[in-house]
Amino acid sequence: MKFIIEGQKPLRGEIKVNGAKNAALKMIAASILIEGKTILHNTPQIVDVENMLKIADKIGSESVRRGDVVEISQNKSDIFKLPEALTGALRGAIVFIGPLLSKHGKAVLPVPGGCAIGRRPITDHIDILGKLGVRATKEGDKYYFEKIREPHGTVQLLAPSVTATENAIMYLCVGQHEVLLRNCAQEPEIDDLIAMLNDAGAKIRRVGGKNINIIGVPKLNPVDHTIIGDRVEAGTWIVAGLLLGNPLKISGFNPEHLAEPIRLIRKMGGIIDLEQNAVRVKKSTMRSTQITTQAYPGFPTDLQSPFGLLLTQCNGRSPINETIFNDRLKYLDELKLMGARTKNISVHKAEITGPTPLVGKHIHSTDLRAGATMVLAGLIAEGKTIVDNAQIIDRGYQEMDNKLSAVGASIVRK
Ligand code: EPU
Repeated sequence: MKFIIEGQKPLRGEIKVNGAKNAALKMIAASILIEGKTILHNTPQIVDVENMLKIADKIGSESVRRGDVVEISQNKSDIFKLPEALTGALRGAIVFIGPLLSKHGKAVLPVPGGCAIGRRPITDHIDILGKLGVRATKEGDKYYFEKIREPHGTVQLLAPSVTATENAIMYLCVGQHEVLLRNCAQEPEIDDLIAMLNDAGAKIRRVGGKNINIIGVPKLNPVDHTIIGDRVEAGTWIVAGLLLGNPLKISGFNPEHLAEPIRLIRKMGGIIDLEQNAVRVKKSTMRSTQITTQAYPGFPTDLQSPFGLLLTQCNGRSPINETIFNDRLKYLDELKLMGARTKNISVHKAEITGPTPLVGKHIHSTDLRAGATMVLAGLIAEGKTIVDNAQIIDRGYQEMDNKLSAVGASIVRK
């Protein structure tokens, strides 16, 4: 699938973001622990979520979607092996391990897939589950997990991995133990998962930043939860608005979840006004800056590529340091084809010098966020841009083309 874009059309109006992908995926996994119905509102209609629901259905759930509301019920099931092909399609499937272990005392994970953004080991998952009494072994291309003792006490994650934190939380919410998890990740999607589990009767509490205390409960009850707005989708539209907004309002998310990117935009001279659950942005003349990606509340790796594009239009030299993943700078080669001045220094470091006008070209989406960035590049380029491999964008952005057309962009799907 391709997107064909005629560039340089101003964007005016409002884009409402959908529910957060990286919260929805975890809540679908958590639903297998819930006796009775899980009702999720604001569930994005994206390929990763549909694949996650398919995996849940293969291991005993039954899900029905009506618009953005998904209802998941549990059938009696003793399946603890994740299906191979679907697990190979998305990295997020790894968060079924915690709930499967909690439910069955064992779990089998075929090597998970996901975006090509570098090496993505599962060492931190194995480490924290090991500290909680789970033995992990690898045979061929499968990981086997088995509970060998009750979890207890204080345990520390090796690093604040998002999905390892979530696996530990979901493993621990049902039971008779009390555990303090240290060095947890602090992404807002984790706190939304905690809110959903607590609504279902769990006793999970953040006790200052990176520490999370969990008191096991006998069971989780039916739950009805509204997923937070997707801060990464919002951040993508904010970049579109800074490049072409006349003005552009982005609503349906909490701007506090983008505090660091918004601070940086202001420092760069970008025009951004905060409203209740929304921001308003305008095409701005901006200065270069330095971007270093970090775990939340630092600058998010998922917005590194849209901001890389923004930097091609800013005055001066901007170093980028991608500290989270080791292959998330490939999109710069595509921007170079369009006329950007970029220099890859290492797999983690690059430098962008701007401003440079971009010219429409035939370009390729290397991963989900880079794909969205290629679309934004097409929107500012002179003439026609063809974005290849654009189906990857549907994994995480609901109807990107329709949302953009509605605010004045010229973009078609072929
Ligand atoms: N890491 C390890 N061992 C592990 C786990 C992680 O070495 O066992 C390393 C990773 O290789 C990486 C770093 O730790 O260098 C951070 O990885 P983390 O585990 O925090 O990432 P994740 O949980 O796999 C989630 C999101 C990503 C997002 C990152 C960082 C989901 C399903 N995915 O991944 O989202 O980039 O956190 O915020 O929640 C996306 O949405 O496009 C996306 C890639």
